[in-house]
Amino acid sequence: MNFAKSLLTWFDQHGRHDLPWQKNMTPYRVWVSEIMLQQTQVKTVIPYYLRFMKSFPTVQSLANATQEQVLAHWAGLGYYARGRNLHKSAQVIMTKYQGNFPQTYDDIIELSGIGRSTAGAVLSLSLQRRMPILDGNVKRVLCRFDAVKSWSGNKETESTLWARADELTPIKRFKDYTQAIMDLGATVCTRSQPKCTICPVAKDCDAKNANKVVEFPYPKPKKVIPTKEKYFLILQSKEGLLGLVQRPQKGIWGGLWSLIEFDSIALLEVYLEQRQLEKTYQTLTQFKHTFSHYHLLMTPVLVQSKKCEIEGVRWFEKEALTGVGLPAPVKKILRDVLHLNRNAVAGV
Ligand code: ADE
Repeated sequence: MNFAKSLLTWFDQHGRHDLPWQKNMTPYRVWVSEIMLQQTQVKTVIPYYLRFMKSFPTVQSLANATQEQVLAHWAGLGYYARGRNLHKSAQVIMTKYQGNFPQTYDDIIELSGIGRSTAGAVLSLSLQRRMPILDGNVKRVLCRFDAVKSWSGNKETESTLWARADELTPIKRFKDYTQAIMDLGATVCTRSQPKCTICPVAKDCDAKNANKVVEFPYPKPKKVIPTKEKYFLILQSKEGLLGLVQRPQKGIWGGLWSLIEFDSIALLEVYLEQRQLEKTYQTLTQFKHTFSHYHLLMTPVLVQSKKCEIEGVRWFEKEALTGVGLPAPVKKILRDVLHLNRNAVAGV
């Protein structure tokens, strides 16, 4: 049996047939469900979907609602841009299509928040159009079935997967097939502990046959990011006060209070010298903090000095640090290095 046939036979018995959006499958109802189901599991979506449909049963009722009303129905579901886009698109459907849901791929994909896979799902599930889909679940199924040896977000891999998704979609029963492949991904070919023993297509699954199911799908390659090294001066007065500087409003840690930073220990020495501060210092254990664009190797350097006027520096009592905005790794330094009580450093 081929892929679609095996899958459909399984779907008739084991697929999901009574989800709320499977009743009265209008493009509007399917569209709302597909948007809610992006990055969100079926069991989470169901109550939100039911409430949403009760309040906004038609495109018109959604378009006429205020953004606050729409977002109130989204509260707790996350990724609120989805709710805003849905609302905006309903208004576009009213003005541009007189309230009739667009019927072609080119018009549907133009709506905010609808990508190729969502457009495919809406067309296939509610508009009797044979269209492939390739959401996260389907990608995982196909990557395993073909033992795809690259990350599915890679441009070339993605286009190969789309071609494969199209090729596997049958001419007949494409609507059931669309639901079936999503169900297979969500209930059988799951990310962890896939249930290959009950999978209808296991016999021809390349990953299964190579006994390498856990290796697929390949993960996103880790970004190679540069490493910067900085020295963080912990300026401590004899009375136990801490000297901090406020970061510029723009850029990393904008506006937060932080330790004074240096690119080298030599520059730190110059700083101490020029301000006639205590010249002896203690270099503490280095640690790494990773930002999205670089790793930061942080070396805390402890200097015990007298409390004096230094340009840009404000002296804080340890107790007063509660309520001061400090970058997370700076909190870590102050906590670990100075053995500060967890509660003494704001929000730690
Ligand atoms: N995930 C995305 N679309 C879905 C659907 N129609 N049914 C179940 N899960 C889904």
